[in-house]
Amino acid sequence: MNEQNKPLVFFWSFMAAATIILVWYQYNTQPPVAIKENPQAKEQQQVLNLYRDNCARCHGAFGEGFASNPVLRGRNLQVEYIKERIVKGRGKMPGFPNIVEPQLSKLAEWVGKL
Ligand code: HEC
Repeated sequence: MNEQNKPLVFFWSFMAAATIILVWYQYNTQPPVAIKENPQAKEQQQVLNLYRDNCARCHGAFGEGFASNPVLRGRNLQVEYIKERIVKGRGKMPGFPNIVEPQLSKLAEWVGKL
């Protein structure tokens, strides 16, 4: 290596090392996007779990209903009305006083959009 090239060699060695360190840093300090904390997805999952655990056995997994259990999907039911049905029940539907705010509203909104 001649003296004249020394600064260039030093420069590119430095750049290569910096690139390797940067890539290593990216891979080792950032969780993959898929498992990044996503509060909205978590909230949505809680609503789905509530429906699955409390409502699906009568109204079906997709709100399709069966036998004397009414269909819930595509009904355009009002959120306030759904909330009342959840809390008080009616006829053969039991009330769910254990489902409280803020989950109550979220579940009712979700059912309203089925
Ligand atoms: C044991 C079965 C059962 C379960 C569990 C159940 N339902 Fe119902 N649901 C019914 C029946 C039966 C009716 C009709 C009641 C009536 O008006 O006589 C009904 C009615 C409703 C209505 C009113 C529909 C309309 O046409 O006016 C809504 C909204 C509703 N249920 C939502 C829910 C939600 C949300 C859950 C879960 C938290 C749930 N239900 C759990 C049986 C059930």
